[in-house]
Amino acid sequence: MSHPTEKLAVVDPIWSAMREEALQMAADEPAMAAMIHNSVLVHDSLETALTARLAEKLSSGDLSALQLHPLFDEALAADAGIAGSLRADIAAVSDRDPASRSVLKPLLFLKGFQALATHRIAHWLWLHGRQALALHLQSRSSEIFGVDIHPAARFGRGVFIDHATGVVVGETAVVEDDVSMLQGVTLGGTGKETGDRHPKIRRGVLISAGAKVLGNIEIGAHAKIGAGSVVLEAVPPGCTAAGVPARLVGKCGSDNPAREMDHSLPPAPPET
Ligand SMILES: CC(C)(COP(=O)(O)OP(=O)(O)OC[C@H]1O[C@@H](n2cnc3c(N)ncnc32)[C@H](O)[C@@H]1OP(=O)(O)O)[C@@H](O)C(=O)NCCC(=O)NCCS
Repeated sequence: MSHPTEKLAVVDPIWSAMREEALQMAADEPAMAAMIHNSVLVHDSLETALTARLAEKLSSGDLSALQLHPLFDEALAADAGIAGSLRADIAAVSDRDPASRSVLKPLLFLKGFQALATHRIAHWLWLHGRQALALHLQSRSSEIFGVDIHPAARFGRGVFIDHATGVVVGETAVVEDDVSMLQGVTLGGTGKETGDRHPKIRRGVLISAGAKVLGNIEIGAHAKIGAGSVVLEAVPPGCTAAGVPARLVGKCGSDNPAREMDHSLPPAPPET
């Protein structure tokens, strides 16, 4: 009879690849073998490895890892969509991060992925009336990962937050599938609106480092936002906006900038 983990490995290619990488990493770096064993190899599914890792990272004097771990397991067991989204997020990192094609490193080391995973659990808690716990997780994620996402903010699947330090996302923001963003991005309000006051980022958008997108504005599918921009107006699908305040600077040079992580601006129009 096959062991349950063998069965899972067959039907779960990401978990299978993660375990293989973990075995190799432990062999290559014996000093980290215990950590890798406890974080990956001791577990029988990606879900329990992830919830254990997050519980360890987010534990504090307020709530220990032993208290957090079952709460996280409860969220993933209740909503299979969370684990599906997390697999898509891991695939997005390995597909788009030029510095890492690994499926293991997001779980172990990449705080953009870890913060997004934390948010997905906090969002589930928020939707189920457990706001105090959701806010605790937002606070710990901000302290530990430097990423501050309001638990009510809605995220699609396959989102990649690269480097991640200083990312802030407001309560009524929406981030659709396959979006990529980098460190220092704010999806915030202008300070002049109430209620639904945060940006709506449509699928496949790339938001470069340090960009501030402010107000209830729509960034159209596959648009590209230049580094350091302050975006105060809607950006049509497929266009590039850059500058302070941001202006349209042309069509995207790519149909899928978030996937290709292409930060280049389009060529300047010919002088007349
Ligand atoms: C500056 C701010 C308070 C608006 O002030 P305001 O006096 O009401 O300004 P307006 O919205 O009428 O815009 C006036 C002009 O300044 C420009 N402008 C507004 N905010 C700007 C900014 N942050 N940077 C550069 N230009 C800005 C506008 O494009 C507009 O230019 P135009 O006249 O050429 O069209 C607001 O845009 C802002 O930046 N808020 C920041 C809120 C924040 O930090 N949010 C993050 C929350 S997490």
